[in-house]
Amino acid sequence: MKKLFGVIGDPIAHSMSPAMHNDAFVQLGIEGYYHPFHVKPEDLPAAVQGMKAIGVQGFNVTIPHKSAIIPLLDQVDPLAKAIGAVNTVVRENGGWTGYNTDGVGFVRGLREAYGEPLTEKRVLLIGAGGAARAIYYTLASEGVSRIDIANRTAEKAANLAESCPYPVVGSVKTTTKAAEQLEEYDVIIQTTSIGMSPLIEASPISVEKIKAGTFVSDIIYNPLETQLLQEAKKRGARTQNGLKMFVYQGALAFEKWTSQTPDIERMEEMVRHQLG
Ligand code: ATR
Repeated sequence: MKKLFGVIGDPIAHSMSPAMHNDAFVQLGIEGYYHPFHVKPEDLPAAVQGMKAIGVQGFNVTIPHKSAIIPLLDQVDPLAKAIGAVNTVVRENGGWTGYNTDGVGFVRGLREAYGEPLTEKRVLLIGAGGAARAIYYTLASEGVSRIDIANRTAEKAANLAESCPYPVVGSVKTTTKAAEQLEEYDVIIQTTSIGMSPLIEASPISVEKIKAGTFVSDIIYNPLETQLLQEAKKRGARTQNGLKMFVYQGALAFEKWTSQTPDIERMEEMVRHQLG
């Protein structure tokens, strides 16, 4: 009998995770099946319990359940607890353990594409929402301790930095201020939804002052090249879109469930195919 996995969210119809995971099961000869489950917020506790009762082995969690699920789990990994969001749930000793692979997935993709150690670099994170928190805390937990945050509302960025349990030296500023000082940064990480389809003609920050060779990573993958990445590229920046983050967060979840490593390039191909 196939082992059952899935993703819970609201909405969930357009999730690209099922195609990516089901293909990986086939490739590795694993008897597994991954299904998208539409779970409304009021049904979350029943869904989490029900999945345990029917023998689901593990699942992903997406909008709007990433924080709400935490009190419903049996154990939560310390990094996920600090971030306050879980995107991957694994059945361990009969109970549910929650992890966050979004931040780790992003940082793995960033390190791979950037190619140099991040420790001595000047890093700017744009945004202060859930995705920013996962990335900032993961970088900090991995010893990248010089990170500035730019956000429309600087206060929200200050709250994010203050509640980080890992040491970071950095300042917090408005996005406008950060734009004026952009030449100071080696790595710029964009975590807001600005520039995402369908509102693609928007950018969260002006890149007039960016220096050539700066590495810009945008977590958006639809479109594959945001207006920010296009403008940064024109000024000689190196760029990366959010595909790798999406693929790596999935691959890390897959590894936790099966103890096997999927083919990353093939996973990325599956997602590109879905994006059309
Ligand atoms: P997520 O959890 O997906 O990261 P979120 O928590 O809603 O999303 O956070 C959205 C981020 O995008 C925040 O940094 C937000 O800025 P504020 O903290 O000032 O609200 C930013 N953001 C959203 N819409 C924006 C806009 N129109 N202009 C500038 N920043 C915006």
